[in-house]
Amino acid sequence: MIPAEVRAVVIGGGAIGRTVVEALRAGRIPGVRPVAIVDDQPLPDLGVPQLPLTEALDLADLVVECASQDVVAKHAAGILARGIDLVITSVGALADAGTEAALAAAGPGRFLLTSGAAGGLDILSAAAAQAPFTRVELTTTKLPTTLVQPWMDAETSARLAAGDQCVQVFAGGGREATRLFPRSLNLVVTLGWAVGDIDLVAVRLLGDPAATRTRHHIEADGPCGSYRFDIENLPSAENPRTSGVVPHAVLRTLAVLAGRPAGVV
Ligand SMILES: NC(=O)c1ccc[n+]([C@@H]2O[C@H](COP(=O)([O-])OP(=O)(O)OC[C@H]3O[C@@H](n4cnc5c(N)ncnc54)[C@H](O)[C@@H]3O)[C@@H](O)[C@H]2O)c1
Repeated sequence: MIPAEVRAVVIGGGAIGRTVVEALRAGRIPGVRPVAIVDDQPLPDLGVPQLPLTEALDLADLVVECASQDVVAKHAAGILARGIDLVITSVGALADAGTEAALAAAGPGRFLLTSGAAGGLDILSAAAAQAPFTRVELTTTKLPTTLVQPWMDAETSARLAAGDQCVQVFAGGGREATRLFPRSLNLVVTLGWAVGDIDLVAVRLLGDPAATRTRHHIEADGPCGSYRFDIENLPSAENPRTSGVVPHAVLRTLAVLAGRPAGVV
């Protein structure tokens, strides 16, 4: 039974979390009320108190994580153990087998992965339940400047930072892709969960100066059928690593989990 009003705490007041709080305050998701925001940096006034995590959890029926993989790794299992539901945006955290196992064993709170920057995950999940896929590939194309990583050699970093050439920065398995590009490839894990096996997901990551919109091309083949999705998202004005649609996907997830959804789920 869904309570009449779900009290939501948002962790992370950046590009995603801020929009989520503003929309919840405006009553966009009936039945979900924002009660606090948690961030390790001082935030401007968002109309809800900024509290330390432990204080905020005392108020929460639901936590909406929009912060970092580290927050998921450190706090998700404890949140679920308190019987609080958790919506995860930093989905890439589950590429780590230890975090994945800890979440799978935790409860009684439930955790949901938002669909985030992509779509088509519903039919892939349904098809995988019918019979396992044999091939799943994700090709993601972003502006080169958003792909610079601390571990890269100076020449590769400089080439990407210049932002004037097409560069393939990664080709390989889903777990490794997420480890190397933790802020850019959450979709690998979301896709892996949809098809039931993250290790099945082969990834290519490209930097392209013409990619003013972030592109995700998904191909999946199996006994049930073949699926192709092309997604082009406008980057968020606040954070070009994040697509502008993501907070709205998070709000949709909240409507399904805790609100009164009407329409396609
Ligand atoms: N699932 C998806 O499709 C998808 C898409 C885009 C981004 N993301 C992920 O969502 C998360 C948020 O993205 P964003 O664009 O809003 O980032 P952002 O950098 O704009 O904002 C993140 C906020 O979280 C806060 N934060 C970070 N670590 C924290 C900690 N340990 N404790 C408290 N606060 C902390 C930061 O201070 C910042 O205010 C990132 O992990 C990003 O990779 C997921």
